[in-house]
Amino acid sequence: MIIAIDGPAAAGKGTLATRLAARLGLPYLDTGLLYRAIGRTMADAGADLDDPEAAGLFARALRPEHLSGDLRGRESGELASRVAVHPPVREALVAFQRDFAARPEGAVLDGRDIGTVICPDADVKLFVTASAEVRARRRTDELAAKGRAVDYERILAEVRERDERDSSRAAAPLKPAPDAVLLDTSALGIDEAFEAAVRIVETAARR
Ligand code: CDP
Ligand code: CDP
Repeated sequence: MIIAIDGPAAAGKGTLATRLAARLGLPYLDTGLLYRAIGRTMADAGADLDDPEAAGLFARALRPEHLSGDLRGRESGELASRVAVHPPVREALVAFQRDFAARPEGAVLDGRDIGTVICPDADVKLFVTASAEVRARRRTDELAAKGRAVDYERILAEVRERDERDSSRAAAPLKPAPDAVLLDTSALGIDEAFEAAVRIVETAARR
C-alpha cells in the first residue's frame, strides 16, 4: 500500500505519516528533507539559491550524508522552499522518491506533490490542512518547548509566506490531488487526527 500525504507547513503531515507507518509496518520517507538538504548545502557553499541551473547541479549531487544534521529548523524550511521552485531540482528528485514508493511492502511519503506528481496512483491520498493561525501556534509551541523564545506573529508571517510560495509556483505547486481526502486538523488533537487518518486509510483499503 502506498500512502501519499501532502499539505502546508505544520499541518501535521510528519506526525501522521510517522504514526501511520509504524501502525502499518511501512517505511516512511519525509520528502521535505531532500529539499531542505539541497537548500542547506547550497547556502553553506555560498551558491545562488535563485539560480535554477545551479540548484539542479546541487540536487543531482545530493547524497545520503547530506540528509544528516539539523535540517528541521525554520531557516532550512525557508531555504527548501526557495530551491523547490526550480524544475531541475524537482526532476532530479523524482526517481529516488518513486523508487522508495515502489518497495514491495509499500510506503508512506509526505510532502507537497506526492499525490499529484510523485505517486499519482497512490492507494491513499491524504491532504492535511489546518488554518495558518493554528499551524503558526503549533510551531511556536514546538519552539517554546525547546526553550526557544519566538514571536508568534513572526512565525505566522513565515508560515503564510511559505504557503504562498509553495502554492503559487508553476512546478508541482502545493494543491490537493483531485482524488485526495481532505483532513482539516485545525480543531483536532494529534490522537484525534491520527484516528481520522486511520479511518480514511481503512476505507481506502476496503475499495
Ligand atoms: O510535517 P508537518 O510540518 O506538516 O507537521 P508536524 O511536524 O507533523 O506537526 C507540527 C506540530 O503540530 C507538531 O509539534 C505536532 O505535535 C503538532 N500537532 C499535530 O501534528 N497534529 C495535531 N492535530 C495537533 C498538533
Ligand atoms: O515540515 P514542513 O511542512 O514545514 O516542511 P517540509 O515538508 O520539510 O518542506 C520544506 C519545503 O520543501 C516546503 O515548504 C516546500 O517548498 C518543499 N517541498 C516540496 O516542494 N515538495 C515536497 N514534496 C516536499 C517539500
